[in-house]
Amino acid sequence: MTDDHQESESHTEHGNRQETPAHPRTAADWDELYDSADRLWTTDVNPAVVAELGDLAPGTAFDLGCGEGADVRWLADRGWTVVGADISRVALERAAARDSREAITWTSFDVTTDDFGRRYDLVTASYFHIAADDEATLHKLAEAVAPGGTLLVVMHDPEGLRAHGRDPGEFLWPDDMVRILGDGWTVVTHETRERGIPAGGGHHVNDVVLRMVREPA
Ligand SMILES: C[S@@+](CC[C@H](N)C(=O)[O-])C[C@H]1O[C@@H](n2cnc3c(N)ncnc32)[C@H](O)[C@@H]1O
Repeated sequence: MTDDHQESESHTEHGNRQETPAHPRTAADWDELYDSADRLWTTDVNPAVVAELGDLAPGTAFDLGCGEGADVRWLADRGWTVVGADISRVALERAAARDSREAITWTSFDVTTDDFGRRYDLVTASYFHIAADDEATLHKLAEAVAPGGTLLVVMHDPEGLRAHGRDPGEFLWPDDMVRILGDGWTVVTHETRERGIPAGGGHHVNDVVLRMVREPA
């Protein structure tokens, strides 16, 4: 997994981040990035999460790459029992310091090596971009969705990625995901839409949103 969210400038609209690793990959890279600012990302829930999940009846949820936890908090507010999972200890400590309610479990988790251990009614991944050669991570995410459950993936659009020096070809896109996962899934949403509030220093204007429901057992 990799990310384009960070900028080389010393200040963003979200926090006060200083110079950081260009493309964090390891837990240490991510910790360094989070350590570089009091806050990296907006405290507001992702607009695509609100649009896609606002009407869903609550159950169990797992947010992969939860970062500072805005989406997790929003889900818990709506009655979900949520696991906020991230490779970065710093991000998780920050998220837990902000919200320690019982409905939320903040978990240190590396999707490349750790197992989900069970299935969830909802699995989300916001701006957790999966590398094009990492189909295993996609399969793992999908396997963690219970029959009848929902998988929601939100990505920056290719323009937003290019603005940060990334080649969109580095990543798996919803078209790839639908093809790779194949039968057994219903695509509910597969579109690019305006984010509403641009992120990433104004570069991330559009989100690419994929919402799929797993066939009931
Ligand atoms: C761009 S941030 C997105 C944070 C949050 N979802 C949001 O939208 O604000 C990507 C997150 O994925 C986490 N991450 C990176 N690699 C990971 C891995 N292998 N397993 C779990 N989390 C990972 C990073 O620490 C980071 O918090």
